[in-house]
Parts: sequence; C-alpha cells; structure tokens
Amino acid sequence: MTPTASTTALVLRPAADAEFWAVARLFAELHQFNAGFDPLFRLAETWEALLYEHFRQTHHAPGACWLLAWRGDEPVGLLLLEAHTDSPLFAARRWAELVALYVVPDQRGSDLGRRMIAVGTQWAAAQGFDRIQLYVTAANTHAKHFYARCGFAPVQEIWRIALTPAPGVIPPPDPSCETNGHAAHQIELGHHHLAMELCASPNVEPPDA
Ligand SMILES: CC(C)(COP(=O)(O)OP(=O)(O)OC[C@H]1O[C@@H](n2cnc3c(N)ncnc32)[C@H](O)[C@@H]1OP(=O)(O)O)[C@@H](O)C(=O)NCCC(=O)NCCS
Repeated sequence: MTPTASTTALVLRPAADAEFWAVARLFAELHQFNAGFDPLFRLAETWEALLYEHFRQTHHAPGACWLLAWRGDEPVGLLLLEAHTDSPLFAARRWAELVALYVVPDQRGSDLGRRMIAVGTQWAAAQGFDRIQLYVTAANTHAKHFYARCGFAPVQEIWRIALTPAPGVIPPPDPSCETNGHAAHQIELGHHHLAMELCASPNVEPPDA
C-alpha cells in the first residue's frame, strides 16, 4: 500500500546543515502562497542566496529555531522563529518573531501546524521570551483562524495607502540600513535580522538540492 499523508508518521526536527534545500523549497511555496494574496509580498530575485546566507549564519544560533517536518524523505512543514530586538527606544523590546510557517497542501488539517506551533512556543519560552509575535496577511482568513485556534490574538495592524510615485525617482535607502560597517549597531536600531540581509549583497551561493 502506498503511504498516504494521514498514515505516514511525521518527524519534526531542527533543519540540519545539508537541509537548506528543504527549507528553501517550503519557504518559496509559502511566499508564492502569500504573493497570491498580495503581489507586493513577492520575493526578490536574489531571495534564495540571501536566505541561504541567513540560514548558514543562524541555524545553529540560540536565537533562532529552524524546524522542518518530514514525511519520510519529503519535507512537509517549515517553522522559523527568531529573536527580534526592537529599538532601545522601547521598554519591552525583545520578543520571538514567527518569521515563517508552512504546511504542504496535502498535509493540512492533520494537526501538523499546531504541532509545530507547540514546538515553537516551547522553544521561545525556554529561551526566556514572554511572547511570540507574527505578521499575517489580512486576506489569509485560514491562517488567522488557525492562529486564533492556537491562542494568538491580534495586537496591531498594518495599514496601507497606494501612492503615485514621482516618476524616475528611486526611493532613498532606509537610513538605519545604510552600510557603515557597524552591523551590530544596525541590529540595535531594531532591524529584523532577515530584513537586514536584504541590505547586504549575498556572497555565498546556496548549494544545489
Ligand atoms: C496555516 C497552516 C500552517 C495551518 O496548518 P495545518 O496543519 O493545516 O493546521 P492544523 O491541522 O494543525 O489545524 C489546527 C487548527 O486549525 C484549524 N484549521 C485548519 N485548517 C483550517 C481552515 N481552513 N479554516 C479554519 N480553521 C482551520 C483546524 O481545524 C484546527 O482547529 P480545531 O482544533 O478547531 O480543529 C497551513 O494551513 C498553511 O501552511 N497554510 C498556508 C501558508 C500560511 O498561510 N502560512 C501562515 C502565513 S502567516
């Protein structure tokens, strides 16, 4: 009998050095899914090299949790949590951010998402964090129901107005992101570590799957 999504045992474990290909596959599917709600959330052309560099630097770090779920030799779930540091302007500036959560379509509804959230909340509490925060697309009602069922509640909203930009003008860089050789200083200003990678050129190519 061919094992099905429901009959094959799932294994959840931290992503190993050689498993970037699995992280990248699920990360790409997640962001393709998100871009389906809003094309402004699509990934940049260089995303894979940037993500690989970030994975290489952080997947063993105490402030990051890169979790994969496996069905046999097939990756079927991804959870990424990271320590987040807001500007020192804010009193309660350290929290755990849920950066990515994805379950492949034929495994959804089997409790895998909730199992990964349970691993993530245990990890975050054990690292001393008092909360996990995340961003979810307003139109992603499925994920919002899911997070609510897992105990999350909204605390802030991102609002947007579309503009007609001045023709031919390239927006200036984020002043906190300009490369001045003080990466630690940039982190102190409160930039998301993954976002920060976008400020630098990738210098490491991801390995082939
Ligand atoms: C959101 C997601 C991770 C949930 O994973 P999942 O494995 O399907 O969820 P689970 O099977 O663990 O479901 C847990 C709870 O959510 C509920 N749920 C699952 N699918 C649901 C749906 N389509 N609508 C409403 N609730 C749903 C389940 O019923 C269950 O609640 P219950 O105890 O009341 O039955 C998964 O659907 C996914 O990867 N979606 C696409 C990517 C995405 O949206 N990621 C989040 C971006 S921020």
